[in-house]
Amino acid sequence: MLTTAPSALGPLGRSRNPRVFLDLAGPAVRGLLLKKGKRDRTAQMPAHHQAHFDWDYERNRPELAKLYDAAKRDQWDGATALPWSTEVDPFDESRELMPEHTLPLAELPSYRSLPRRRQAEQRADLTSWLLSQFLHGEQGALFAACQVTEAVQWMDGKLYGSTQVVDEGRHVEVFHRYLAEKLGKVYPINDNLYTIIDALMTDGRWDLKFLGMQIMIEGLALGAFGTMRQSTREPLLKELLQYVITDEARHVTFGVVALRDYYAALPEHERRDREDWAYEISVLLRNRFLAHEFYEEHYAHCMSRREWNAAVLRSEFMGRFRNTLFRRLIPNLKRIHLLSDRIRPHYGALGLLVYEHDKPASELRPIDLLECDPAEAEAKLLRV
Ligand SMILES: [Fe+2]
Ligand SMILES: [Fe+2]
Repeated sequence: MLTTAPSALGPLGRSRNPRVFLDLAGPAVRGLLLKKGKRDRTAQMPAHHQAHFDWDYERNRPELAKLYDAAKRDQWDGATALPWSTEVDPFDESRELMPEHTLPLAELPSYRSLPRRRQAEQRADLTSWLLSQFLHGEQGALFAACQVTEAVQWMDGKLYGSTQVVDEGRHVEVFHRYLAEKLGKVYPINDNLYTIIDALMTDGRWDLKFLGMQIMIEGLALGAFGTMRQSTREPLLKELLQYVITDEARHVTFGVVALRDYYAALPEHERRDREDWAYEISVLLRNRFLAHEFYEEHYAHCMSRREWNAAVLRSEFMGRFRNTLFRRLIPNLKRIHLLSDRIRPHYGALGLLVYEHDKPASELRPIDLLECDPAEAEAKLLRV
């Protein structure tokens, strides 16, 4: 029995499920050890899923059909819907990108000793880092949506998936445009995020693509977008995030609707593998927000990575971020039958079980769909 992961594979192996460890070992070697996301400007990931054709075109999933109708109705054009002429100035304190108290920098002595302008530059860089990870996640979501659309077995799912492909393409467009035109800086992909994207793109099982992208990455992205939207005082970014959030709420609902019944009917050992896989991905996602790329640039010369991690993890920023992120993910895992009594203590050890019965953070109030808990959001989306 596998008891611990080689340290080179970072946090992997906590679930002690040898099958899941083997599934994730390749992606972890490429992402965490070889750092392939940073080594090249491009990456090739072989796909192993089956493209599923259906010549009967039977429409037998009414919930997915309603989501498809909602998605067609709510399309928007990234080039014209947003006020791109807005001037973004990272040094304008009345329109701060991310106010100081929302970031983990204020508690660092070496940050506090900097002149005001240098501090503003670092805040802008950390905002760019966060938005860059959103951008890279969106590229992963675009390709995952393509794969899911091919592999899913229901025609209603395929039709809905076609709208998500367009949605994710639009998200890549607007995040990249904001970074390139307004902030002028794009950071490389974080190693943990690369590992997760590699794991779900290269796995042949269609449901793991749903689970990894629609439930986990998108569920967390929804929380992250909401936190940033609530914190920023920059009007263009606020509006951009509002548009993206309404799309993402649909995507998470797609994942939950698609997997709820499927996992309920799965043989116990298969369901257990998915549960352990989701737990390993949760650990990677939890470590995704340590901003190591920003640390390398600004703080590696004056503090160790361990000291940096400790500072970020105990900051108010990290606490708020994690609250918002996992508040949606944990209840959704429960709804798709991946939070059994067997795995609960593992999430408890990470401090994540407190969110089991939670509702989304009240900070997300301005967005209609996020005012309610995931079940209510889904009901609203399906009531088209
Ligand atoms: Fe997206
Ligand atoms: Fe999405």
